[in-house]
Amino acid sequence: MNGRQTMKAKPSPHPPFADTSPMRRRDFLFVATGTAAAVGAALASWPFIDQMNPSADVRAFAVVDVDLAPVAVGQRITVKWQGKPIFIAHRTAEEIARAERDDTAQLRDPARDDERVQRKEWLVVIGICTHLGCVPQGQRPGSLRGEWGGWFCSCHGSVYDTAGRIRKGPAPKNLYLPPYRFVTPTHLRLGEEA
Ligand code: FES
Repeated sequence: MNGRQTMKAKPSPHPPFADTSPMRRRDFLFVATGTAAAVGAALASWPFIDQMNPSADVRAFAVVDVDLAPVAVGQRITVKWQGKPIFIAHRTAEEIARAERDDTAQLRDPARDDERVQRKEWLVVIGICTHLGCVPQGQRPGSLRGEWGGWFCSCHGSVYDTAGRIRKGPAPKNLYLPPYRFVTPTHLRLGEEA
């Protein structure tokens, strides 16, 4: 059994996913080849894992591989991981600078930008508002992003910045970070720690 199959998923630190936003199936960009390969590998390994009597969280664990090569600077994509929308933003230089500038701002849930990214140009967050679980807007070009240029949750008006930090509204926490690592500069693997 390799390390990838034995990794344990962290207990979910966020409220249940309440799909009360207008997000539809087409909002998800499934990176089909990588995702299918990863899920297929996980399924193929099942009999061996089962034989080892893994804990429930290991059985529920899955990895999703994402090919970042086609994602242009400034583009945001959504992939599904463990039933949750994962927002991946290929940040522009301006978005990065804006996030770093606000490291010293008064933040409700203080975190530096470099604590929230592994590579400056890629922000990877769980796309679920930390207030009551709606899916914020801001993924599609032209959608509302709020005054900090990140994401806007129209359920009750929470606004997140380009680091996914909560800046305004009732949400108590920044958008949560999923476990992930870069296998290569353009190959992201969700579900594994760096
Ligand atoms: Fe997002 Fe309430 S669920 S602001």
